[in-house]
Amino acid sequence: MSGAAPGAASWSPASPPDRTLAPLGRRRLPVVARREYGAYVVLSVADPEGPAPDAGQFAMLAAAERWGGGTDARPFLPRAFSVARHHAGGTLDFLLEDVGPGTGRLAELLPGDAIWLLGPLGRGFAPPRQGRRPILVGGGVGIAPLAIWQDRLGEACEVLLGFRDAAHAEGAALFERAQVATDDGSAGHHGLVTELLSQELAGARAAREVYACGPPPMLESVRALCAGLGVPAQLALEAGMACGYGACFGCVVPTRAGYVRLCVDGPVLDAAALEVVA
Ligand SMILES: Cc1cc2nc3c(=O)[nH]c(=O)nc-3n(C[C@H](O)[C@H](O)[C@H](O)COP(=O)(O)OP(=O)(O)OC[C@H]3O[C@@H](n4cnc5c(N)ncnc54)[C@H](O)[C@@H]3O)c2cc1C
Ligand code: FES
Repeated sequence: MSGAAPGAASWSPASPPDRTLAPLGRRRLPVVARREYGAYVVLSVADPEGPAPDAGQFAMLAAAERWGGGTDARPFLPRAFSVARHHAGGTLDFLLEDVGPGTGRLAELLPGDAIWLLGPLGRGFAPPRQGRRPILVGGGVGIAPLAIWQDRLGEACEVLLGFRDAAHAEGAALFERAQVATDDGSAGHHGLVTELLSQELAGARAAREVYACGPPPMLESVRALCAGLGVPAQLALEAGMACGYGACFGCVVPTRAGYVRLCVDGPVLDAAALEVVA
């Protein structure tokens, strides 16, 4: 991350963009590893020529083979995935939860298979404001962008993760250390991750900044809690994304200042810009 210029349109060597820009065109890349973490799959893709993504950026992914078409499968648009980790040498990790045909196809890829990747896209997390210690709050597969953010922040952060059950809580293994909550009590705290956040903020709110990604009800709960306590928060949101680079307007979300396209103005938005997370 660098500079404060508003993006590609105003780019010049003297005024670099405030995000990492994707090279033009999608890249055909090899899958180099596939690992299972309970209910999740982590797919590693070798991208040695690609730029290092900012934490919170995403990529549009599609399997190079059998990605829809034919008589019994619908044509697929690529799907959006947060970069979960960036390794030395350029390998990118993506955390997948199989919720439908696109994620299902990607989750069955094996080392040696090929993937189309466009990215990195969007705006990621901004560093914590002066003197504030980051707290990362993730829900379900929304933990993905927080793993690379913890890598970049190093030791100086708390990590609070919420999952449905113990099988999903295995995703916590992507983190150095984390407090876990599960809805059914089968691992960690029995309850919501926002209960852990509430405890964490009690008494220490002046010195904290919250970074959150997860399902909309969780993000709304984080937004409302932080707004009530005056704690700054950055929220990584989701919307259906057809293109990922600003062309289709399919991903617009309302903010206090008007509609923004989440794929270019987000996916990370300052919580103060939002009336509500719907
Ligand atoms: C910026 C961004 C980052 C994302 N990062 C990840 C990630 O790291 N890992 C991951 O597994 N998924 C991630 N997603 C969500 C992922 O793109 C969707 O799960 C995927 O598009 C679903 O495709 P599908 O064909 O498998 O299922 P579909 O049949 O398209 O959808 C299955 C179900 O998921 C819902 N759904 C689809 N897309 C979204 C969406 N974008 N937001 C909320 N609900 C949706 C549908 O309404 C439906 O109920 C991200 C989405 C965005 C916008
Ligand atoms: S996904 Fe097309 S404009 Fe955002």
